Amino acid sequence: MLLLKLLTVTVLLAGVLVQGAITKLNAARMTLYGKPNHYKKLVARLDKVLPNVSVKKVLEDTNHKTNLYPLDPHWSEGVTWAKRPGYNDQDTKKWIPQGITSSYDAYQDGVYQGKKAIFTSWYDASTAKAKDPKNKGVRISFIDTTSSNSNNWTYRNVLLVVPHETKGGHISYHPVRIHAGGIMWYGNLLYVVDTSEGIRIFDLDHIYRVDTGSRIGRVRKGKYTAANYKYIIPQMGHYVAKSATAKGFRFSFISLDRTSKPDSFIVGEYDETGKQNRIARFQLDYRTRLPIHTKGTMTTVAKQFYNIHLKSMQGALSVKSLGTQRYYFTQSHGDGPNGQGDLWIWTVGERFEPFEGVLSRGPEDLTWRDGQVWTLGEHAGDRPVYGISEGSLPP
Ligand SMILES: *[C@@H]1O[C@H](CO)[C@@H](O)[C@H](O)[C@H]1NC(C)=O
Repeated sequence: MLLLKLLTVTVLLAGVLVQGAITKLNAARMTLYGKPNHYKKLVARLDKVLPNVSVKKVLEDTNHKTNLYPLDPHWSEGVTWAKRPGYNDQDTKKWIPQGITSSYDAYQDGVYQGKKAIFTSWYDASTAKAKDPKNKGVRISFIDTTSSNSNNWTYRNVLLVVPHETKGGHISYHPVRIHAGGIMWYGNLLYVVDTSEGIRIFDLDHIYRVDTGSRIGRVRKGKYTAANYKYIIPQMGHYVAKSATAKGFRFSFISLDRTSKPDSFIVGEYDETGKQNRIARFQLDYRTRLPIHTKGTMTTVAKQFYNIHLKSMQGALSVKSLGTQRYYFTQSHGDGPNGQGDLWIWTVGERFEPFEGVLSRGPEDLTWRDGQVWTLGEHAGDRPVYGISEGSLPP
């Protein structure tokens, strides 16, 4: 009893202290410059040489099955990756999962080309240096979640690429060698954060089927391969840091807020010290699927900017739920056996408190999916993809 009381006091104290520490920053200082169609001409050339497939087609051509993951009492659903002789996404250290989004981000009703899906991003960790030519970059798991029974979910991994012209004048592509800490699907666009640069944009209206083969790019006339991945998505453009403040920002995670007017997204920053854990909100134009630009420019200015001061924050989400404006943050505590993550909840104008130990180890990016907070665990051997429904969260 005494222990319980002490704990309560500590938590309250922590709550008060940390709440006091959220600081409002000058949003006008956080600006990005957009080149959303930077690769358009190169993508048009790829359109001519490679067969275009729809998201639906990829989801109808999954080659792995997810497995059920033992549920924490607060979780509504949880799956993990394929593991079978000769194939193991659960334990691989070659690829590390980071970002999450779903068809509920793409469209309000969660249905995309007749399907429901969750996407997750993985970065290639098999080579220490991103510049190593062996580094395959980033892949996206397309999980077909159309079935309401998560025991029936299946997936396929698809490779992201950047188009380029070869010295010989041919159209080709190379890997996207970034951390891909967060992703967001909005209409036909897939936003992928690029830690030191900004945000990369991929267009899901351009997905290609390629041949089997280990190289990434054009092999010879009519033959293109992608490290034995069957489908690739070429980068269409990007938003790069413009202001000095944005240049010093680490683009670590991203999530959509469909409950703001207009729609908006949050990008946030990882920092293991708690000093610089900033989040910025940018507004979106649902017609172009791009950030809203200052009139007559390609510059987008943040609408809100905060330092959350939350040590090892790995994901941020903003949503009006349970009747009020709330933010959710994942906080990781290493990969030790007791490293369960905390879900921090900031009810604006009221409190900022942790929902302790409710997350897996190594929780990452966040997304709001059909009234549930979804995230995923990154550590090899313990990698759930899971949701917590609104009703299981503290009011
Ligand atoms: C590729 O397929 C999509 C359907 O998923 C379609 O919207 C798009 O226009 C197609 N693109 C090309 C270049 O044919």
